[in-house]
Amino acid sequence: MTERKMMKVLSGESVFPPPIWIMRQAGRYLPEYRATRAEAGGFLDLCYTPKLATEVTLQPIRRYGFDAAILFSDILVVPDALGRKVAFKEGEGPVLEPLDLAEVDALDPTAIHGRLAPVYEAVELIRAGLPAETTFLGFCGAPWTVATYMIAGRGTTDQGPARKAALGDPEGFAKLVDVLVEASIAYLAKQISCGVDAVQIFDTWAGVLDESEFEKWVIAPAKRIVAGLRAIHPNARVIGFPKGAQALLERYVVETGVDAVGIDWTVPHAFARDRIQPRAAVQGNLDPMRVVVGGRALDEGVDRVLDGLGAGRLIFNLGHGITPEADPAHMARLVDRVRGARR
Ligand code: CP3
Repeated sequence: MTERKMMKVLSGESVFPPPIWIMRQAGRYLPEYRATRAEAGGFLDLCYTPKLATEVTLQPIRRYGFDAAILFSDILVVPDALGRKVAFKEGEGPVLEPLDLAEVDALDPTAIHGRLAPVYEAVELIRAGLPAETTFLGFCGAPWTVATYMIAGRGTTDQGPARKAALGDPEGFAKLVDVLVEASIAYLAKQISCGVDAVQIFDTWAGVLDESEFEKWVIAPAKRIVAGLRAIHPNARVIGFPKGAQALLERYVVETGVDAVGIDWTVPHAFARDRIQPRAAVQGNLDPMRVVVGGRALDEGVDRVLDGLGAGRLIFNLGHGITPEADPAHMARLVDRVRGARR
């Protein structure tokens, strides 16, 4: 069997040049994505139409030959599958019907698979369409980050509504997190059964919590998801991405048991090399703005990541998703520079 480079790193090997993929690699910076998106109509229609979700998943693989493809979907399909109203409004981002914690008892995590059936179908189609050497990643949103959108009903800058709910009614909030942990395990386990090689848990808003809240709502749920998934699929490989976790990254890695951790671009390389890479693979951490600017800013950033982290277990990526204004030609330059690197 072809050995998938990224799976080697997730299994404990250091590989140089490192495997590369890019968060949000299928997205609005690509003209071919915008064309398929227009054909689909709504964003959720794109997520729930297996042929179209497959097409946009494969687009960045065709164009750049990344080492991993990530399932095209969104973290908010889980609240949608739990029966909450979710819409994506042009230029506004996601809009949900705000959740009151008193409503949590009505949410049934075992009822999600019907609505998510087209996603599982897309997983099977994508697997069949991928080159043998390409790793296929599934994903879900972490309970904390998904809860922030469910409670506020939209994105906010400081996640004030969810922080207030978690501090003011910890028992009620814990029930919501329990529902999301159960739903996430079931959703990820099914993605693996249908053909993904590994999964990523996106905790975009982990960085707004103090230490004790981070333990409760970021570390503990991720640990339960990893354990629950491995109870079903013992060899499940998991990447955690607690964005903004800073010094708490080390505890996150040790306590959750993830195989790799995504680090944002503010994490110092010496810290990641000395404290994190001995315990897990590191994924990151180029500032997405360097792909917008290109040229020397891009080259220097790429070289710094490779110099700082390339001796250990590294998956090259950005420190967060690529932005719509990034130039596709800059991405090609980035890939060439990583692939051409020599130590
Ligand atoms: O990485 C990929 O290419 C796979 C697809 C993917 C999307 N969203 C597609 C998407 C993934 C992995 C996500 C994750 C996601 N979604 C996160 C966690 C990662 C992160 O970037 O922080 C979050 C917080 C969301 C919720 C979400 N979805 C927001 C806040 C928005 C609006 C902001 C934006 O970037 O437009 C979305 C919409 C969304 N999800 C788009 C895409 C390609 C753009 C929608 C469009 O095409 O109109």
